[in-house]
Amino acid sequence: MQTRHKIGILGATGVIGQRFIQLLEAHPWFEIAWLAASDKSSGKTYGEAVKWKLDTQLPSRIASMMVSPATPEGAPGVIFAALDTDIARELEPKFAAAGCAVISNSSAFRMQADVPLVVPEVNASHLGLLETQAWRKQSGGYIVTNPNCSAIGLVLALKPLADRFGLESVFVSTMQAVSGAGYPGVASLDILGNVVPYIKGEEEKLEAETLKLLGKLSGSRVEPLNARVSAHCNRVPVEDGHTESVSIKLKAKATRDDILAAWSEFAPLAGYTLPTAPAQPVEFAAAEDRPQPRLDRMRGKGMGATVGRLRPCSLFDWKFTVLSHNTIRGGAGAAVLNGEFLAALGKLVAHDHVAVSA
Ligand SMILES: NC(=O)c1ccc[n+]([C@@H]2O[C@H](COP(=O)([O-])OP(=O)(O)OC[C@H]3O[C@@H](n4cnc5c(N)ncnc54)[C@H](OP(=O)(O)O)[C@@H]3O)[C@@H](O)[C@H]2O)c1
Repeated sequence: MQTRHKIGILGATGVIGQRFIQLLEAHPWFEIAWLAASDKSSGKTYGEAVKWKLDTQLPSRIASMMVSPATPEGAPGVIFAALDTDIARELEPKFAAAGCAVISNSSAFRMQADVPLVVPEVNASHLGLLETQAWRKQSGGYIVTNPNCSAIGLVLALKPLADRFGLESVFVSTMQAVSGAGYPGVASLDILGNVVPYIKGEEEKLEAETLKLLGKLSGSRVEPLNARVSAHCNRVPVEDGHTESVSIKLKAKATRDDILAAWSEFAPLAGYTLPTAPAQPVEFAAAEDRPQPRLDRMRGKGMGATVGRLRPCSLFDWKFTVLSHNTIRGGAGAAVLNGEFLAALGKLVAHDHVAVSA
């Protein structure tokens, strides 16, 4: 790629916004040109506005950038968005209407019929929905979303099995990291030495998003996968990395070797050279006590899903554990991969700055 796309980050000061900065600052295809957050941050330098929580240094170029108001005026044509859902519902359409490609982390539009909910390894064809969006027709802008942080590891593990053997039922119980709740997130007195068996709206999202992601694009709509998913979601005192215990019933018989082969041979992006795509999207950890969040969340630079503990299930057919990094694979990294895939398809908005009439 000859030139780098100038990009902006909406919600740049939050947990996912900080990951965007970490993943994009030295990105070969994208250049961070604009940062925005709430009124309490705009008008400050990013270094003044942010409570930087990552274990890499805040880049000095970024620290000295001004935080802009969260409006499309002067924003670049490609926006990576990490806003709270209610704010996203209000602001993302304004950017799409102004001609921006909005690559969103929020749940606000994930289940809207004309908005693609995409993991490139799983359902890249759903990006066809972009062309049906009114924003796309009127201004060239659009909204594309990535799933909830607990859905992404699950669908990466399920997709190769759904393709080869068909999927009838999925039972999943999650152990989700505290960073999944944003910053400052869950109060320390609520989570230290504890498990909270409730995350508002999470079970519904995990169930519905999994079926949309594994569904088929049919004309201008996605037919969700005809399978049953039941989810239990728990918050646990882990910093990063969502672990999920999964039981599955398949349509066709599959041996342990068949399942291991389906996972290891899963390489749907092999024909592309996307900087953030992991070489092995689903990696099997053979040790009997893996995957574990502290030890396995950074596989594939945080973009891999690690599966393990594959064994027969006495209720369904098979059960296993899957782990993925919630703020990388499940958040900023997922959106960056969507951005790279859109760039490879030539679907990123061409102009660097949008002009907006008052
Ligand atoms: N954390 C995860 O693991 C994860 C994973 C996948 C998806 N997500 C989703 O990603 C989104 C962001 O999550 P997060 O964890 O990064 O949340 P967060 O840490 O609470 O950050 C929220 C961001 O939104 C900004 N913001 C708040 N009100 C605003 C307003 N009125 N106008 C403009 N900006 C505003 C905040 O700016 P200020 O600092 O100025 O307040 C901050 O930059 C959410 O929709 C979440 O569900 C999160």
